Amino acid sequence: MKNSFKPIAYLLITFAFSACSENKKEQKAEIEIPDSGPVFDEVYRPQYHFTPAENWMNDPNGMVYLDGEYHLFYQHNPDSNVWGPMHWGHAVSTDMLHWKHLPIALYPDSLGTIFSGSAVIDKGNTSGLGKGGVNPMVAIFTYHHPEKSQTQGIAYSNDKGRTWTKYENNPVLENPGIPDFRDPKVSWYDHGDGTGKWIMTLAVKDKISFYSSPNLIDWKHESDFNPSWASYGGVWECPDLFPLIDQEGHEKWVLLVSINPGGPNGGSATQYFTGNFDGNSFNADGKEVKWIDYGADNYAGVTWSDIPKADGRRLFLGWMSNWQYANIVPTTVWRSAMTLPRKLELYHFDGKNLLASRPVQEIKTLYDNSEKIEAKSHLLRDELFHLDLKKKEESLASIKLSNELGEEVILSVEEDKIVFDRSKSGKVKFNKEFQAIHEAPLNGLEIYDIDIYSDKSSLEIFFNEGELVLTEIIFPNAPLLKLDLEGIENNGEIHYLNSTW
Ligand code: FRU
Repeated sequence: MKNSFKPIAYLLITFAFSACSENKKEQKAEIEIPDSGPVFDEVYRPQYHFTPAENWMNDPNGMVYLDGEYHLFYQHNPDSNVWGPMHWGHAVSTDMLHWKHLPIALYPDSLGTIFSGSAVIDKGNTSGLGKGGVNPMVAIFTYHHPEKSQTQGIAYSNDKGRTWTKYENNPVLENPGIPDFRDPKVSWYDHGDGTGKWIMTLAVKDKISFYSSPNLIDWKHESDFNPSWASYGGVWECPDLFPLIDQEGHEKWVLLVSINPGGPNGGSATQYFTGNFDGNSFNADGKEVKWIDYGADNYAGVTWSDIPKADGRRLFLGWMSNWQYANIVPTTVWRSAMTLPRKLELYHFDGKNLLASRPVQEIKTLYDNSEKIEAKSHLLRDELFHLDLKKKEESLASIKLSNELGEEVILSVEEDKIVFDRSKSGKVKFNKEFQAIHEAPLNGLEIYDIDIYSDKSSLEIFFNEGELVLTEIIFPNAPLLKLDLEGIENNGEIHYLNSTW
């Protein structure tokens, strides 16, 4: 899908402009969006993953933490359950699991619809957009316009994200003549001497461009990153750039780049690079394509800004779908969920710096009761669970979940790869690609631990505490509650999870 966009956009965009041309305060009257009730009982509605109350959602946007609240904005079409004129939906949470839906934060205007981007707390009010001594929350996003193309705009809030004002001189970054020019991820780069600057990491067709700014308004191009050996199967989108401390205590920088299509198992996926960023350019420390997730359904994921130092975690959330079929998955009221929130950490294996994603520990607060799994077969009581298994040493393994209709998913640990088969998992015929068998190479990694998180229509599978991950959506016609295990120690545990609604 190079240089292209979802065709449905062009049909719906005119409607968006005429319907929503307001450029100033965007807050609609406070509306009541139910956080529970029949809308949330739809058969595939996730019970502990974030979903929009109604209609379409794609990428997570503007993830920022302020005063005890995790903010999640998201690509949203409020008028339909397929992709269309993009708005920023909004929700807040104190634990990344229980979410409160808030009114739409950003509406399209004459410059375009509102594509993906980020948000920061402008500490020190470098933008001058804070009023009354407040450090504003500033959103940096892409305007998508069929004729004017893609530009970057900003909006600000002085009341903890409750109301938003677009900056009056938008766009702050004009398009240099490249149709794919989007998804700004902004963070503060500290020079280490008390001074610093804002860095914007931007996806530009098939490269990453870095820009810098003293004030979030005036941007200067710094450098580009597009090494010849990276993955170029599709357009680059939704980047993120952040430092992590490696196992030896050294700072390493990580660059996430989502790519669509061209993922290791078809369609959308996120590659990452480890290396060094010096405030001007990024240099990778290897020449190998690495993927954050080998499942088909973790895309456009980025991390939260402004997590307090005392917490120190790098927290990630992805969109749990794939552009191959996102618009036609068999859900009704809502379409698409986010992944579980995950903590990103570096680990060293075989001379490489790699990224582990682990579910956040907050998930344990949802534990209801637990059971031991001591036999090869087990009948589960409910499909909301965390399955904690240890693989037998020097053995292959397989885990099957099935139902009385003969529907099943099979996860196998083979000699040199993981195989995930959802081809008979229930509703699969809506898209040919959905039936594909997925594989993840082990590259010498010895699997010892397997954690599976199951919700109504997803499985998130973490090997060795997140060293290798597969995120997969499924649509069984009855819950997959029969568990059959091979090559697994008989000391497994299942933790049933409470719904967050
Ligand atoms: C990624 C993406 C972004 C874009 C947004 C539009 O899924 O294509 O590049 O900003 O979706 O909804």
